Amino acid sequence: MYARIAGTGSYLPERILGNRELETMVDTTDEWIRERTGIERRHIAAETQTTADLAEQAARRAMEAAGVTAADIDFIVVGTTTPDVVFPNVGCLLQERLGIRGCPAFSVEAACSGFMYALSIAERFIATGRVACALVIGAETLSRIVDWSDRSTCVLFGDGAGAVVLKPSSEPGIIACQLGADGHYQDLLYHPYGPSRCPGPVFGDQEGHFIHMKGNEVFKVAVKTLEGIAEKMLVDNGVDAAELDWLIPHQANLRIIQATAKRLRMPMERVVLTLQDHGNTSAASIPMALDAAVRDGRVQRGELLLLEGFGGGFTWGACLLRF
Ligand code: COA
Repeated sequence: MYARIAGTGSYLPERILGNRELETMVDTTDEWIRERTGIERRHIAAETQTTADLAEQAARRAMEAAGVTAADIDFIVVGTTTPDVVFPNVGCLLQERLGIRGCPAFSVEAACSGFMYALSIAERFIATGRVACALVIGAETLSRIVDWSDRSTCVLFGDGAGAVVLKPSSEPGIIACQLGADGHYQDLLYHPYGPSRCPGPVFGDQEGHFIHMKGNEVFKVAVKTLEGIAEKMLVDNGVDAAELDWLIPHQANLRIIQATAKRLRMPMERVVLTLQDHGNTSAASIPMALDAAVRDGRVQRGELLLLEGFGGGFTWGACLLRF
């Protein structure tokens, strides 16, 4: 039994923050951002919008595309690092909004690899026959944990959500998922506080509650790791890179993506890029890129895709699948 993607969906908040506007906020230029990252604009959630709001829109679109209703869903997993509240988890918030009761609903915290972790978990439940219809989501409001006065990070991130509906199939389907992590790199990319490690006497003190990143060092590990996991996935499954129809990578930096494509000898025409319009949306970036390419007709049924992500932790994951 395989798990197969029956439908995709995504949602971007209305407000667009372009590089030119960032020039008025921090000491940066549109040229620097485009050259160093490939990003031109990103979407920012409205003050009243939360991660669950974005996730709900993406989920409804994926369900519509898959031709399923809330009554069909029997598993909900959300990859996110920016949940609405500590608990209930975003999966439960979503379950209530969709009017579903009783099925497992939870979130997975693996930073930018969150969707890869969530997809891999849901795939196992489907492939072992325990679940018949899973909703798998990556959703983030990273703008809430970005220091808007720090030019080295604020130009990179954006908000959004992407979702897929997974169903069982005798045809592939997801062929393989591979996950990994290395907690020794904690000091390169982190958010310093949470409910159990809070600096001020009053919870909610915002001092330092932002993403901290040593960009240059993250860059090097990201390139090496992403190249490595892509190659391992292909070797382990006896697939040649030339057989891949599409590489759908986490959208963090164009230069990181180009390095992976070069290593696989894949032309950039077969790489789905959304980071120019979305920025780095963490766990949402891969399912949003997949949905964009499905909806504009690039990704077709039966094509062979390699999805891969890398993020804080460090965490990483890849998935080889026939769409
Ligand atoms: N505008 C203008 N200048 C900036 C800038 C900005 N927004 N941000 C940093 N700079 C400056 C730095 O201060 C530095 O100046 P200096 O040489 O005078 O000290 C210079 O640009 C180079 O900085 P550096 O950090 O070495 O640039 P870089 O080429 O490594 O690009 C990143 C920075 C963040 C774009 C890049 O390192 C990156 O993408 N890293 C990976 C990030 C990532 O993937 N994170 C998430 C993982 S999921």
